[in-house]
Amino acid sequence: MDTIKKVAEIIKEKKNVVAFTGAGISVESGIPTFRGAQGLWERYDPDEYAHISSFNRNPEKVWMMLREMAQVIFEAKPSAAHEALSELEKMGYLRAVITQNVDGLHHLAGNKNVIEYHGNHRWLVCPLCRGKTPFTKDVLSIFPYPRCETCQRALKPDVVFFGENIPIEAMIRANEEAKNCNVMFIIGTSGVVYPAAEIPYISKSHGAIIVEFNVERTPFTNSITDYFFAGSASSFLPEIVKMLR
Ligand code: OAD
Repeated sequence: MDTIKKVAEIIKEKKNVVAFTGAGISVESGIPTFRGAQGLWERYDPDEYAHISSFNRNPEKVWMMLREMAQVIFEAKPSAAHEALSELEKMGYLRAVITQNVDGLHHLAGNKNVIEYHGNHRWLVCPLCRGKTPFTKDVLSIFPYPRCETCQRALKPDVVFFGENIPIEAMIRANEEAKNCNVMFIIGTSGVVYPAAEIPYISKSHGAIIVEFNVERTPFTNSITDYFFAGSASSFLPEIVKMLR
């Protein structure tokens, strides 16, 4: 409890917080993580299902996983941790959220400045003409997969597959926010996927205080984290908001 008070005081004094989030913040929204016993990558080998070359080779197979993922995302509601970040933005403490998540839940919670580093699963994009359309529920009943009306190519969710580049605008904005924050929250990420995992190191090297929330320790914990909260993000973040009110 003392540590939470201390962190709330730091936020009050320094303001200018940026949150870097991963799948752990959406667990209580009903979306499983990628890694670990219940993780998506336990059931679907990412080499077979999440690499762009697999999609190009066999979109029908990859769409079986994408359909399942979309169903879970459509059902999900923001967690108490998402809501807390939205509150912190409204209160003027949080400047930006940089998320690796593709579920769109930070937007749904009401955050305005959200950088979606790995894209957004609620949109579809044509790999050829780059035209975008909303990924609505009715797409789930299109078999074997939805096609671009112009090019007839298999559409893919507007997310970054392994083997694809990070959207350049997201990368530039994320690096800028990381350099300029006073406090960085690292929330619910294993910190093993690059270049995303570089972001907290950028903040640290520019002098930010690093506050991490995770149910387990990560590569950040022993290297750059100043304050570590072991447990669910939803149990700590609303407490911090309360203390700042
Ligand atoms: P991971 O599945 O790798 O890690 C999820 C993290 O959340 C783990 O460190 C868990 O301990 C933690 N966690 C679980 N429940 C939590 C809770 N209630 N509160 C706080 N933390 C909790 O997910 P990411 O790190 O987001 O990329 O994965 C990074 C990228 O790998 C994803 O964006 C995705 C994936 O492959 C692409 O698809 C390109």
